[in-house]
Amino acid sequence: MKDVISLGVGEPDFVTPWHIREAAIYALERGRTTYTSNLGLLSLREAIAASVETNFNVSYRAKSEILIAVGVSEAMDIAFRAVIDPGDEVIYHEPCYVSYSPGISLAHGVPVAVSCRAEDGFSVTAEAIERAVTPKSKLLVLNFPTNPTGGTMERAELEKIADLARRHNLLVMTDEIYSELTFEGGHTSIASLRGMKERTIFLHGFSKAYAMTGFRIGYACGPAEIIDAMMRIHQYSMLCASIISQEAALEAIQYGEADTIEMREQYRLRRNFIVNSFNQIGLKCHLPRGSFYAFPCIRSTGLDSKQFAVRLLEAEKVACVPGSAFGPSGEGFLRCCFATALDRIEIACERIECFVSRLR
Ligand SMILES: Cc1ncc(COP(=O)(O)O)c(C=O)c1O
Repeated sequence: MKDVISLGVGEPDFVTPWHIREAAIYALERGRTTYTSNLGLLSLREAIAASVETNFNVSYRAKSEILIAVGVSEAMDIAFRAVIDPGDEVIYHEPCYVSYSPGISLAHGVPVAVSCRAEDGFSVTAEAIERAVTPKSKLLVLNFPTNPTGGTMERAELEKIADLARRHNLLVMTDEIYSELTFEGGHTSIASLRGMKERTIFLHGFSKAYAMTGFRIGYACGPAEIIDAMMRIHQYSMLCASIISQEAALEAIQYGEADTIEMREQYRLRRNFIVNSFNQIGLKCHLPRGSFYAFPCIRSTGLDSKQFAVRLLEAEKVACVPGSAFGPSGEGFLRCCFATALDRIEIACERIECFVSRLR
């Protein structure tokens, strides 16, 4: 369709900052066109170790506890394949990123969703997670800030979750890809809490914070034996991530912080505008404390989320993702990515208002 405003795909509208693109160009100019170590460039792993220590308060050894992967997507896949035995149960909070459940199933695990309710701001509690634990539970997947709800996690609740993981001997996979896009309150990684580093696989990447989705670089930090198991799958399936992208990621992690802060401030303005607009239109929308997604409730329109998204697209040419795409507990909601220019968001909101007013 022509003239569609997309609030659909979760990707920054910013082009990767120039100095990062230039690092990739320079890598090519220098003839950096080879494979790297399976674990990735040591210089990048060392820079990641320093950054994770500064920003997340956990120290990892660059030589044995960090693996560079083709995006968090690959890191997540090989983590699932490395730790899940057939029939192991993997608990995650829902609505959630679309890949968790299929990724667990592909590794012959059993996905166990803990549904979060809008009434509780979609936050997950240690109590709710504990109710889902069985003798077959192996791994707990956490994602804060959360795609699609923008939810974040208070340190006190995270302490309780860490406590239950230790008591039930659960491994934890924490996907912190949106951590730099936290607008209010600080961000705490569960990996930094007492007794958690040894049972946590920490995933992070460059796609969101540095607007580098096309570079496909992510990483996993964790206990050496898990990283080694992941590396064996990675070496036979992927060999290594692209060296050109790794060189660009090195530039990003060393010199890209100001870009991230600038983009975050833009996202904050857009978030405030879009959330305000939805509430004015009568689509109740909580304030996402992180990520770049608004998750308004569309139940008052009488449509389900897929009907709403399809009819909105057809009638007003605004693309959003039905909440049901993120699991049954996302039904009744719409995910709207605000990593789009403010003037486009303004027009999208006008179009949504027209659409909704015709339904009432
Ligand atoms: C929560 C979450 N994890 C992982 C990914 C995948 O990231 P990457 O581009 O690093 O593969 C996404 C992408 O949208 C995401 O939202």
